[in-house]
Amino acid sequence: MIKINENYLKLQASYLFSDIAKRVGAYQEANPDQTIIKLGIGDVTQPLPQVCTEAFHAAVEEMARAESFRGYGPEQGYDFLREAIARHDFQARGADITPDEIFVSDGAKCDTGNIQEIFAADIAIAIPDPVYPVYLDTNVMAGRTGQYRNGRYEGLYYLDCTQANGFVPEFPDRPVDLIYLCYPNNPTGATITKAQLQQWVDYARENKALILYDAAYEAFISDDSLPRSIYEVEGAQEVAIEFRSFSKTAGFTGTRCAFTVVPKQCAAYMQDGGKQLLQPLWHRRHTTKFNGVSYPVQRAAAAIYSDEGRRQVKALIDGYMQNATLIRNAMTELGYTCAGGENSPYIWIDGRRDSWAFFDLLLNEAGVVCTPGAGFGKCGQGYIRISAFNSHANATKAMARIKKALA
Ligand code: MLT
Repeated sequence: MIKINENYLKLQASYLFSDIAKRVGAYQEANPDQTIIKLGIGDVTQPLPQVCTEAFHAAVEEMARAESFRGYGPEQGYDFLREAIARHDFQARGADITPDEIFVSDGAKCDTGNIQEIFAADIAIAIPDPVYPVYLDTNVMAGRTGQYRNGRYEGLYYLDCTQANGFVPEFPDRPVDLIYLCYPNNPTGATITKAQLQQWVDYARENKALILYDAAYEAFISDDSLPRSIYEVEGAQEVAIEFRSFSKTAGFTGTRCAFTVVPKQCAAYMQDGGKQLLQPLWHRRHTTKFNGVSYPVQRAAAAIYSDEGRRQVKALIDGYMQNATLIRNAMTELGYTCAGGENSPYIWIDGRRDSWAFFDLLLNEAGVVCTPGAGFGKCGQGYIRISAFNSHANATKAMARIKKALA
């Protein structure tokens, strides 16, 4: 008898963003004349930077000629991309990361979801609340939790992120082994200071724990005092794996390219207490289960590191951040307390009512899609998240509609 992995049955309903898409679809069907403005899922809307499309075209042409055609590439990514990442994203900011510590992939969602398989089944996991659902669901699928009761899975340690702690959690009051952190944060848009991040790194070193640091939104940081990478912090290379993505930075959500950094010193432990380096394990996993990102996509990604590429990416980000300012200001003027939107493309709004009720209100009365905070965890109840990813015209129209609906 073929048996299923029953851990899947513990999962809550469908994936949050599929759930929202269903509700929006039903609303659109009932209101075919309403133009809906989507500020829900953080999906980019602006075209790829021109440097990327030029590099893409050139690489496709190379693939069209026998003398420059390429088949399988290195699973971990081509050297030209790994070298550019190491130099510009890390070494230029004083973080000593080398190309062989970088693993190019097709998305930070996949990487943050897949990474848990290199750890034991019985580790203690600390996970923020609210949280990007992928960290949680993939551990549920792997059987690291009990049942879902009262809004939470048994067996996990939840790190409450609230207005009171500035959405940077306190340290666990019992030992944990694996800690998920994401800054600039999805969904709250909050940031972490270097001093706060240093404390987390020190905690991990003292407790033989490991930090999974999701920095997919680092490109939206404009405050230079804030860390863009955990490796800007002393000792992080021993205890942290970092995830990055070209999705939000350069409009690659539909193109797919990201990378994970596993430093050579980074280690975890075996049952007998012996130390095991993680870079060879992730290398083994990556080469076994992944065949690399396509050559034209990697060429397109590498193009953002030229001087012109950096200018174009900055313009793209500045555009989204203009929306973020507009959204934050409009909601503040309406009397709502907001977090995020200053060094991040997400604005986290205390709606002072049930999250899904606020979601329905904005959809029905303004034709605007947001994300209900409760979908990100118990601590998200009462909040909504508005994303800055849209055209400036749409963001302006959306905020005018919301002002009218809530006035
Ligand atoms: C979000 O809206 O939280 C993100 O778009 C999800 C993702 O990056 O997978």
